Amino acid sequence: MSEREELGRASFEWAKAHMPVFELAERYLKKRETGRNLFQGIHLAACLHVSKETAVLIDSLHSFGAEVQLVAANPLSSQDDIASFLKSRGVSVFARSGESPEEYTASIEAAAKCSPDLIVDDGGELHVAYSATDSTGCKGGTDETTSGTVRLKALADQGKLRYPVVPVNEAKTKHLFDNKYGSGQSTIDGLLRATGLLLSGKSVVVAGYGWVGRGVALRTRGMGARVIVTEVDGLKALEAHLDGFEVLRMIEAAEQGDIFLTCTGQIDILRAEHFQKMKDGAMLGNVGHFDREIDVPALYRLGRNTEEVRKNITRIELERGKSLYVLCQGRVVNLVAGEGHPPEIMQLSFANQLLSLCYLIDHENELRKEKRKLLQFPEEIDSLVTGFAMEGFHLKIDKLTERQRDYASSYYSP
Ligand SMILES: NC(=O)c1ccc[n+]([C@@H]2O[C@H](COP(=O)([O-])OP(=O)(O)OC[C@H]3O[C@@H](n4cnc5c(N)ncnc54)[C@H](O)[C@@H]3O)[C@@H](O)[C@H]2O)c1
Repeated sequence: MSEREELGRASFEWAKAHMPVFELAERYLKKRETGRNLFQGIHLAACLHVSKETAVLIDSLHSFGAEVQLVAANPLSSQDDIASFLKSRGVSVFARSGESPEEYTASIEAAAKCSPDLIVDDGGELHVAYSATDSTGCKGGTDETTSGTVRLKALADQGKLRYPVVPVNEAKTKHLFDNKYGSGQSTIDGLLRATGLLLSGKSVVVAGYGWVGRGVALRTRGMGARVIVTEVDGLKALEAHLDGFEVLRMIEAAEQGDIFLTCTGQIDILRAEHFQKMKDGAMLGNVGHFDREIDVPALYRLGRNTEEVRKNITRIELERGKSLYVLCQGRVVNLVAGEGHPPEIMQLSFANQLLSLCYLIDHENELRKEKRKLLQFPEEIDSLVTGFAMEGFHLKIDKLTERQRDYASSYYSP
């Protein structure tokens, strides 16, 4: 093994050792009649962040018999040691850190053209690329994130989704934990690795109080920051207010923030009118899936000079005496500057992925006849993963007594 493969192997082993919930899902599948051959003869194309946790999922699919081709879900998030390690295990990996946008798109298009039987995606790029081919052999697919579900819905509404897709993000055991606690911790990790600065006492503006925004607001507050939330949804704004956060419109928050973190899945959250109001030295980072939340091209157009002041930090000099700093070129801070979510979180998301792929194989015939191609997330998978997670986290809970069950379905006065 080369030094790089060895580094990748060590990270893979470390992640795997902290993913007992994923192992319980694997063990559950191995007990079936098909056992180890569950994905024998299946060509599976995956477009995921190439991280140590992803290596655990991919290695598992490979050892269940799938022939796996892996491409990156982001040009900057791939970890080269992990890619090398997976190659040494016989997985076809077309990803490297710092690949150009052209290379990134070409790898996704090439994977789409390789007639996959199953597609595992994060953000919908591979599904969209497959929909532009003439292939018809795909049995089904999954997608990992909120932005992917939005795009798949649009694809399905236009009749362009030709096979069933399980939106894994819709699993409660995914978005309640991955999006909230995973993003909360890994965003802090990425932010600290990129800047090396103190968070305590800084004003952090979190755009969007959905699952990701809630986690990011919670954890930045935990680090001692003063947190301001911006929203477009009144209910979420109210929730943020009652959770104790300041709620402002972005145009007002722009003047106050030291650090801005976009968590919306939308475009143009930070744009020219906001850049003009920001303080000298403000830092702009994105946690949403695509690099469209900060209008980086508009910022470059406003700027005079740009300079890489540190790995993953670009300084843009605006008018005299004022500079803004863009983190990770506007791409996901937690995956570009950090290592992404911790394994204890990804074990839940990837247990859902593994069981969803199995569901697609088990129900292939009935799903082929199904008109609705973007499926509801199967409740039985959520229940299974909840059970595995309870075991993996060593949680024990009470059971309702017979009298309590009776009381819960009666109209007796208390
Ligand atoms: N970086 C990661 O590791 C990671 C992990 C999970 C999800 N994601 C991505 O993060 C994004 C958000 O995911 P989520 O699950 O929180 O989605 P969500 O739908 O739960 O939340 C998004 C929130 O943004 C708000 N919003 C929309 N437009 C806005 C605007 N103009 N200004 C302020 N708020 C606005 C919405 O009202 C909503 O409350 C998606 O792109 C998702 O794919 C990233």
